[in-house]
Amino acid sequence: MAEAFDAIVLGAGAAGLMCAARAGQRGRRVLVLERAEKPGKKILISGGGRCNFTNIGAGPANYLSANPHFAKSALARYTARDFLELVESHGIAWHEKTLGQLFCDGSAKQIVAMLLDECAKGDVEIRCGEEVVSVEQDDGFTVTTQSGTCRAPSLVIATGGPSIPKMGATGYAYELARQFGLKIVEPRPALVPLTLGGEEVLFRDISGVSAPVATSAGKARFAEAALFTHRGLSGPAILQASSYWRPGEPLFIDFLPEESGDFLLQAKRETPRATLRGWLRDRLPARLADILAERLGLEVEFGNAPDKALRAAGERLKRWTFQPNGTEGFAKAEVTVGGIATAELSSKTMAAKRVPGLYAIGEAVDVTGWLGGYNFQWAWASGVAAGEAL
Ligand code: FDA
Repeated sequence: MAEAFDAIVLGAGAAGLMCAARAGQRGRRVLVLERAEKPGKKILISGGGRCNFTNIGAGPANYLSANPHFAKSALARYTARDFLELVESHGIAWHEKTLGQLFCDGSAKQIVAMLLDECAKGDVEIRCGEEVVSVEQDDGFTVTTQSGTCRAPSLVIATGGPSIPKMGATGYAYELARQFGLKIVEPRPALVPLTLGGEEVLFRDISGVSAPVATSAGKARFAEAALFTHRGLSGPAILQASSYWRPGEPLFIDFLPEESGDFLLQAKRETPRATLRGWLRDRLPARLADILAERLGLEVEFGNAPDKALRAAGERLKRWTFQPNGTEGFAKAEVTVGGIATAELSSKTMAAKRVPGLYAIGEAVDVTGWLGGYNFQWAWASGVAAGEAL
């Protein structure tokens, strides 16, 4: 005999736990099935162990999706302030780091404990170490795991995306969505370091050097730190841009975001005896200044350099073109761009339009946030949207 529930949530991650807690507190009998040995594993390692649990400025403009309007409704109905209220109601101390990013003062464990506590308030049953063997639909959903069979009229796909397979992440959400005929927007790694090849491997010589820059890929621009690595480029500015970058496209770095206009001609007027290398060394880490000056090949004093050459050097420094040859892949990607097509879902409830009772939330869906707490905010908001509907 299959055990009966009102809703079965697959995945005890950020979105699944939030959804289960909401539905449980509304009186639904909810079962959460989790493959890993414990819930919330990604939450535990997030934000360097302190969980950047939301971003106070989170809004639809901070998300990528084939339909940029899709996230609006859920984000408006469950905001960063709402989550912060929940955090505070559990007595969790927090702080704002930069750019609206909110972290626990203590540990990410507090966020998992809070979600489990909220689930307990709703009598949610969470079973870990459950491998789903099959999901079948008749007048509801029958889920069979290695340890038994359960049934419910509602099924929530909250199994996340394939980023960091070493932690047990899989593309199971897509497999299940396809089984029910839902379309998938091609998933690709996002918030991921980019790799350099060809001539640009020279930049590997400055592995470990970091500098505040502005990156642009496609229409997006991010002013944060970039880090040179032994494989290419990383750091927040690069991770942000990586979500917008497509193979074959260039990535631009403005090494001097504070400078504008003909700033090297001005430097020539003010300090004609200075060299570009020395001038750059006053503004950038020395090893980066050296490699840029070498590649620009302008070794003479400013006073002896033609205006045209200075202007061209300035323009290159403001828009240095890199041609990444790839990314470090899902193994190193913080999130996944793409996923279950938003066209298949109601933006209000996350319910599949063509499959009654089926829902998809969190990273499994084609909604991806910037770096900085935005992805968890989507997990909370989409989880609440479904939790209030099922
Ligand atoms: P999530 O991946 O959290 O949960 C899915 C769950 O489903 C997992 O527990 C998984 O084990 C389970 N599962 C998978 N397959 C299953 C199956 N077949 N059956 C049953 N269960 C299954 N974001 C942010 O906003 N702030 C931050 O600080 C960070 N930091 C961060 C660090 C690192 C290293 C990573 C990799 C990611 C982040 N993120 C982040 C991103 C954030 O972790 C991510 O967006 C959310 O965890 C997504 O929540 P979901 O619940 O959708 O998936």
